[in-house]
This record gives sequence, structure tokens and C-alpha cells, in this order.
Amino acid sequence: MEVIIADNYDEMSKISAEFIAAEIRRKHDLTLGLATGDTPLGMYRELVNLHKREGLDFSKITTFNLDEYVGLDPLHKNSYNYFMNENIFKHVNINQSKVFVPQGNTNDPEIFCEWYENKINDAGGIDLQILGIGRNGHIAFNEPGSSFASRTRVKALYKETIEDNSRFFNSQDDVPRFAISMGIGTILDAKKILLIANGIKKADVCAKFIEGPVTSMITASALQLHSNVTVVLDKDAASQLTRTEYYDWIRNNKHLVQKMIGS
Ligand code: PGA
Repeated sequence: MEVIIADNYDEMSKISAEFIAAEIRRKHDLTLGLATGDTPLGMYRELVNLHKREGLDFSKITTFNLDEYVGLDPLHKNSYNYFMNENIFKHVNINQSKVFVPQGNTNDPEIFCEWYENKINDAGGIDLQILGIGRNGHIAFNEPGSSFASRTRVKALYKETIEDNSRFFNSQDDVPRFAISMGIGTILDAKKILLIANGIKKADVCAKFIEGPVTSMITASALQLHSNVTVVLDKDAASQLTRTEYYDWIRNNKHLVQKMIGS
């Protein structure tokens, strides 16, 4: 796991957008797994800038979103489908027929989840998966205790997730109790993973998933089992890590490390 500590939220957003842009430039028909939440807002703004300023081309990529609330229509203002359209898709030249967000208002979630997994497979699997992290260590809506082998399915949300996400709704009672979420197994199948986090509220959980034991009670710790994970944190989110000097040294001396290992 490579850990990059950015000075602040803006730098975290720029580094992560550049990371994605580099992958799109390298592989025009990239399959990209995408996340919602406050954390990636700056990253999406930067990607839109890269499209407008430098012509970053989204036309051939395929995207799969991590999750969606059960019961919300895709046009509902609190749906993740709406979030994605507002914050990135409508501002870039994406091909809407290659955009996949779980369908929260499906009549048959079980069949839908199987279909979603098949679609990911048909697209050749996810090349790069973007993740945020919840205060309780969840990635997507894989709440504490989720199986590391889990695939896309319906998950019940934890109390703190409902509390955290209530800021987007009129009241806590309006927050859906269930979501369709890619599983940890689905996420671990991605070829590369980029997790971003910012703010002091994430400091404790970032130290736990990066430096603590692998445990299903912090589902992000499953990323320790993946061979190609990059984590970009701002200084606040990194403030409880114990090996920051080591991470900084690796970042500043990457050219030396690459020379030594011949890659
Ligand atoms: P946030 O959510 O980006 O709004 O903090 C992250 C998450 O819960 O995965």
C-alpha cells in the first residue's frame, strides 16, 4: 500500500484527479469504479477542469459506481445517480451508455445485483477503483462485519452511517436504511485501487485500516490484502499514522526506489 500525504484537501483532490487522468491517458477505454460523498467532490472538480483545459477524454471509458440507496429513484436529489450527474458526468464527454450506477428503485434487488456483477465482468473487470472511507471504516456500504468475499448485494446501513449521511436529507428519518453496494470481494477484484480521505474525523480510522490488523470490523483493512493500492490523505486524516516519515521518504525518493527495484 502506498500512502501519499497531501498538504490539504485541494492537494489531495489534485493528486487523485491526476492519478485517474494518467490511467485514462494510458488506457482510453479504462473501466473506472467511482465513489460518492463529500471527499471526492474536489477530485471530480479537478477532473472536469482537466477535461475543459486539456481535453481529457472520457468518451471511451466505462464507469461503475460503488453503491446506491435502496428505494430512491435515479432522479431523486439524494440519489447517487443524481450526485454523479451533477458533479461530473454532465460536465464531461462521457458516453451515458457506458455509465452504470446501481438502480436503487429496482423491483428485484437480488436479480439486479447479479446483473451488475455480470456487467462488471463483461466490461473486463474494473481497472481502477476509487474509494472513500466512512468513519466506521466502511468502503462502499460494506459496514463493519461484512464478509471479505462479499459481492454486490443489499446491505443494511449502520447507525453512524445514517447519522453521517443525514446531513444531505431533511432529517435522519428520511435516510434510507438499505443500500445496494459492491462487495469487498468485488472491490478487491479491481486491478488498482485509489482511496482518498480528508479531515480530522477520518484520522482514527485511517490509522486503523493502514497500520492496524486486518479485520472485518474495519472493512477498509481488507485493502491490505490487495497488491496495488494507493491512499491519498490530507494532513489531518494522516495525523494519527505512526510511520508518516517513512511514507514521506518513499514519496520523495520514489525515483530511487524504482531504480533499486528495477521497475
Ligand atoms: P464522505 O463519505 O466522503 O462523505 O466522508 C465517505 C464514505 O462514507 O465512504
